[in-house]
Amino acid sequence: KQTGYTALDYGFVNTAATRSAITYIDGDQGVLRYRGYAIEDVAANSTYLEVAWLLIYGELPTPSELSEFEERIRRHTLLHEDLRRFFDALPHTAHPMSVLSSAVSALSTFYEGSLSVRDPEQIEISTIRLLAKLPVIAAYAHKKSLGQAFLYPDNSLSFVENFLKLNFGTMAEPYEVDPVLSKALDRLLILHEDHEQNASTSTVRLVGSTEANLFASISAGINALYGPLHGGANEAVLKMLGEIRDSGESVERFIERVKNKEQGVKLMGFGHRVYKNFDPRARLVKQSADEVLEALGVQDPLLDIAKQLEEAALADDYFVERRLYPNVDFYTGVIYKAMGFPTRMFTVLFAIGRLPGWIAHWREMNTDPATKIGRPQQLYTGAPARDWPQR
Ligand code: CMC
Repeated sequence: KQTGYTALDYGFVNTAATRSAITYIDGDQGVLRYRGYAIEDVAANSTYLEVAWLLIYGELPTPSELSEFEERIRRHTLLHEDLRRFFDALPHTAHPMSVLSSAVSALSTFYEGSLSVRDPEQIEISTIRLLAKLPVIAAYAHKKSLGQAFLYPDNSLSFVENFLKLNFGTMAEPYEVDPVLSKALDRLLILHEDHEQNASTSTVRLVGSTEANLFASISAGINALYGPLHGGANEAVLKMLGEIRDSGESVERFIERVKNKEQGVKLMGFGHRVYKNFDPRARLVKQSADEVLEALGVQDPLLDIAKQLEEAALADDYFVERRLYPNVDFYTGVIYKAMGFPTRMFTVLFAIGRLPGWIAHWREMNTDPATKIGRPQQLYTGAPARDWPQR
């Protein structure tokens, strides 16, 4: 309905664009729940694929539903050989996030016959294909950057083990998956699986609201995640920590530069639109950082710098007044680095984590009779009507 009144709300700080039954957040209390379950319980007791089911279908799966789901996904991990060759056309210097979004778009070209947004069976098979193939595409983006041969998925392994092998295995030697690594990665992926109407999920919904297919919508979501204010923050944190270490700049001096907003420098991995007391995911990740580095026998001075930065910021009025706390991206990079992932893969790991949430939101939007095409208003600030000049 046209009301004649348009509220201006930069960044949608006050405007709900939808109803949703998937994820609950209380930003003041630091509460995050997936379908009603506290993130702490989910992270301690579940697996990435079980949580994916929970988010997408609304309830926890029975053991047989879960094993059938895992088996279906396992059967769809192979990429079409032509898609494997798609990677040949890209430079090895390409950022893996660009490769990921392009490859997901390209993936849809292999399934032209099953891209309906109306047919539940086609939506179901697209869901399975995306969950199965995104990690393989991600691993190939990694291998491509290393100039190493792609491996085929190994269906004797679990979802996360398979992903690790595709990234770190080689043709030359057998690869033994370290259970510490696979458990830790599974937990990190779970912590990223959904976060209600963040920028990338809102993008998936907006694109999906035009009745664009699931692959097109997810590819758009990956691009939205790429930016350093969103998923790209995990990469930006590691760059920031590395620069502090390499320049020898003190943590105090760096914090001063952030407070003076020198050249727009920010404390990356700090602050959140919704969490104003703490990010519950960040607490769990910080705990993991200590555990994983110890279990892997890795000592990383970047973890010490991160802890010093956190301590200095939490004691500083600038951050206290603005209610800025570490977010999920602050410590994840240190863990991914200890696992052996290059910095440019960090946001790709976020994308794999977030995929089930994006799919759940797309499907919720697609079946909600109240859904309308997304079409924000604007307040026009340009020139008034004027006559075309006589020339
Ligand atoms: N370092 C320094 N100052 C900051 C930071 C930061 N990380 N974050 C916010 N501020 C300041 C900001 O400059 C502003 O100051 P002032 O009132 O003087 O203008 C005030 O705090 C409020 O910030 P805002 O930008 O209006 O807050 P927002 O809700 O629009 O932005 C944010 C949220 C996450 C984009 C922002 O905090 C930020 O840029 N953080 C760094 C990037 C980051 O870590 N992103 C990951 C977010 S969590 C996971 C994800 O979504 O991917």
